[in-house]
Amino acid sequence: MKITLRLNGVEATGDVEPRISLADFIREHQRLTGTHLGCEHGVCGACTLLIDGRPMRSCLMLAVSADGRDVRTIEGYEDDETMAVIRRCFKEWHALQCGFCTPGMLATAYDIVTRLPRADRKRIRVELSGNLCRCTGYLGIINAIEMALDNIHGADRRTHVEPP
Ligand code: FES
Ligand code: FES
Repeated sequence: MKITLRLNGVEATGDVEPRISLADFIREHQRLTGTHLGCEHGVCGACTLLIDGRPMRSCLMLAVSADGRDVRTIEGYEDDETMAVIRRCFKEWHALQCGFCTPGMLATAYDIVTRLPRADRKRIRVELSGNLCRCTGYLGIINAIEMALDNIHGADRRTHVEPP
């Protein structure tokens, strides 16, 4: 089947078998290997990327289902100021070790920072629950996301109470 999608702001086309996952399409057809594959059944979150601005697991989605949609992989943040802040905070807090989970973590962090400006540490943990990391123990990642939220939205954001 022929598919056309917007990949990191550029039109991408492909002739794919209906059974191929979006993750495999991106890695093998488009040669964008920043999207990592861990469990390949929706548990680890390593393959998380943004589809129409929302984080989704690319191992669970068929490439044909992404036809006509906007897909953003970890390679698609070159000039993105928000992601630059998040990356700086990850570096500051040593929020990665082997780096295998990191592309998925950054996609989820980007979603938290842009969608939930008043997220507290508890909410950050909840939002991160779909991304597993075998190295860091999560503390550095949570600290980094909290720091990015403060840097982008101002530390006074914490005075607001999150709705239940
Ligand atoms: S590789 Fe997709 S969730 Fe683990
Ligand atoms: S840094 Fe190694 S799995 Fe997260």
